[in-house]
This record gives sequence, C-alpha cells and structure tokens, in this order.
Amino acid sequence: MTSELRRRMEEAAEAVRRRVAFEPKLAVVLGSGLGALADHIETVGAVPYAEIPHFPTSTVPGHAGRLVLGWLEGKPVAAMQGRVHLYEGYTAQEVVFPIRVLFALGCRTLLVSNAAGGLNREWRAGDLMVITDHINFQGTNPLVGPNDDSLGPRFPDMSRPYDPVLVELAERCAVEERVVLRRGVYVAVVGPSYETAAELRMLRGFGADAVGMSTVPEVIAARHLGMRVMGLAAITDMATGEAAQPVTHEEVLRVARELEPRFVRLVRRIVREMEL
Ligand code: HPA
Repeated sequence: MTSELRRRMEEAAEAVRRRVAFEPKLAVVLGSGLGALADHIETVGAVPYAEIPHFPTSTVPGHAGRLVLGWLEGKPVAAMQGRVHLYEGYTAQEVVFPIRVLFALGCRTLLVSNAAGGLNREWRAGDLMVITDHINFQGTNPLVGPNDDSLGPRFPDMSRPYDPVLVELAERCAVEERVVLRRGVYVAVVGPSYETAAELRMLRGFGADAVGMSTVPEVIAARHLGMRVMGLAAITDMATGEAAQPVTHEEVLRVARELEPRFVRLVRRIVREMEL
C-alpha cells in the first residue's frame, strides 16, 4: 500500500522532473550564507520551492529557496539553495520533506552544510569543520509518526550517521586544497534565540564542538532512507559564552560570506573526487 508520505514525495519529484529532465545523484544542502556554490553548477534547470507541491518555503533572510539541478565538477547534483528550520514553525517532518524528494529524484548521497557556532575553544570564527557525529538536542525527530517500511526501518541505526569514507575524503581534499578543516561533533538546538552562556557551557560539556539550528533532522531522514551523508559546518562565531560581542544573524552571514570562497573550493574538490 502506498503511504501518504510516499504519494507526496512522488508528486513533488514528478513536478520537478516535468520542469527539468535531469537525474541527480548527489544532493547538496547549502546553509546560511553558503549559497554561492550554486553559481558553479552548470545549471540544467532551477525550480523555486514555492512551485514544488508540498515543499516548505523558507522565511529567513540569506536562504534563497530554490532547487538547482545540473552538473558540478562533472557530477549530476541537485542543490538546495536555502532550507527551512524548526524555528520557522515547520514540523520536523516538513523540514525533511525536501531530502525525501531528492531521494525520490535519484540522490543516494547527501552533502549537507550549515553555519554554526564554535564551542571548541581551540577554534576561530571562519573555520570549517567536517561533522563526525551529531547530538539531537531539538526534542523532536522527523521519524516520529507512522513509519513507511518501504522507505526505511522503524528504528534506524545511528551509530555512524556520517560516512567515515566521506569524512576521510573531506580531510584529504582539505589537505590538497590547503584549507584548514576541523573535525567534530555538531549539536542541534531548536533556536531561534541564540544560546545563553549557561547553555553553551552545558553543550560543550555534552562533548559538542559546534552548535546550530539545522542539519540533524535532514541527516536522520537521509540515514532512514539509507543515503550516505557528509556534513560540513562553517564556524561563523565563537559560541563560548565568554565573548564580549553578542551573536547576531548579520554577523553569522558576514562571516559565512567571508569564508564562502574557501568553502566553495573545498566542496568542488570533494565533489570532483567523490564516487557516486
Ligand atoms: N548558535 C546557534 N546557531 C548558530 C550559531 C550559534 O552561535 N551560529 C550560527 N548558527
């Protein structure tokens, strides 16, 4: 029996296929201030989220809200320029719907990126980090609700959500491109308020190296579907709880844009060398 979710996935995927005859294999999610990677895609077609049935549309400045399909470094990709977050009022299921549509379109690998606050005291704003593991501190999960067993298991494994082969690939590409790449644990909070000093101390105590408001729901949904996942975080501010300067969204976007050329160079290299 076809589940309601699968029906909506297929409907959205079919709407994209009707607009753009292209089969992507790699899904790329571009985080806050990191959308310029899409400029390097040899675009076959782009579809605004508002024109895809059941797709949630972003309400945040810095998140464009369109799906770009085409070739990046010779690989067939579908890039999400902008994403939605729990703090916008969407449910976790709505937040991950685009990932499921990208899977329905043919993507079996996900490269997800975000802007995050740095908790690791050794690091600096402007650093890039490959995510080795995550902590879901959002109090919800996109898999809550009925499970469609044809999509994935009721109780999916999360022992290694980030493919170790892809982590190693990222680190090798960083060396080749002479880009400093940190590695660490990403913790997701709901937001939209930034963390208090006490919360940041707690999150660091959890063993997290970076904190942000996205990514974890998408990764859980992708793993549920059996996709391979790589995660990259752009450290846009040091969230140590001791900074003299409060964090602002403008500052997050400014630092993201500043490190964007380095991010683009690293991702292009990774995609070029990635086996799909
Ligand atoms: N906290 C949470 N989310 C963020 C931050 C932060 O400091 N910076 C960018 N996204």
